[in-house]
Amino acid sequence: MLLEIKSLDSGYGFLQVLWDISLSVDEGEFVALIGPNGAGKSTTLKTISGLLPPQGGEILFAGDSIGGMEGHLVCRKGVAFISEELNLFVNMTVKENLEMGAFTVEDSAKQKENLEFVYELFPRLYERENQYAGTLSGGERKMMAIGRGIMSSPRLMLVDEPSLGLAPMLTNEVFKSLRTLNKRGTTILLVEQNVGKTLKTSSRAYILEKGKIVLDGKSADLANDDHVRKIYLGH
Ligand SMILES: Nc1ncnc2c1ncn2[C@@H]1O[C@H](COP(=O)(O)OP(=O)(O)OP(=O)(O)O)[C@@H](O)[C@H]1O
Ligand SMILES: [Mg+2]
Repeated sequence: MLLEIKSLDSGYGFLQVLWDISLSVDEGEFVALIGPNGAGKSTTLKTISGLLPPQGGEILFAGDSIGGMEGHLVCRKGVAFISEELNLFVNMTVKENLEMGAFTVEDSAKQKENLEFVYELFPRLYERENQYAGTLSGGERKMMAIGRGIMSSPRLMLVDEPSLGLAPMLTNEVFKSLRTLNKRGTTILLVEQNVGKTLKTSSRAYILEKGKIVLDGKSADLANDDHVRKIYLGH
């Protein structure tokens, strides 16, 4: 397993949000984490990526324990976190922002290859490479956040709600780019509200409710599960 989480507890100070979470993602997989607002999805990704220390349990990445490790070190190990909060450098151009994403990549040929791939995936970013990031539209910022993740050549990409606030056409584009990225070899753990699309795109999924995993399995099976259909798919 590339990522293995065992009995993870996490939260904020005295507030425990995650209870005994166990979850794993194999190399090359596309796995989804689904759940209602406030269930603890972002908290799970923050804990994996080192922004939040675990309160208990274990997080293994490629066999190494990364639980409680600082964010920049987790990133160096090959984990990219594309968060809901798009922390762009507003006074830098699109290209400069993308290059900042490559701070862990020393090989300049690899950097160049990654940049070309980002521009191929999101031609709109190429058209705007000299524009200040602060002037990008919401959808373009999302693309940029994903692009910046790609620039770090991650083995595992944790993606938090990439379709939030996007029009359907852009949502499709973002899902397509994640699929392409996965086919190209990047392992993905995706958090999304768009459950229908997510279950079609991922191979397995976990359902998180009130900080606990209540269901998991193949995405195709979950799409036919009564609970999932009623609560998440509305039919
Ligand atoms: N910095 C924080 N300090 C205290 N509590 C927090 C903090 N961040 C989140 N929480 C709480 O933790 C719980 C889980 O939040 P989290 O952001 O993980 O949910 P989520 O599943 O990502 O929800 P959403 O779908 O709305 O993004 C919520 O009750 C939230 O209020
Ligand atoms: Mg969230």
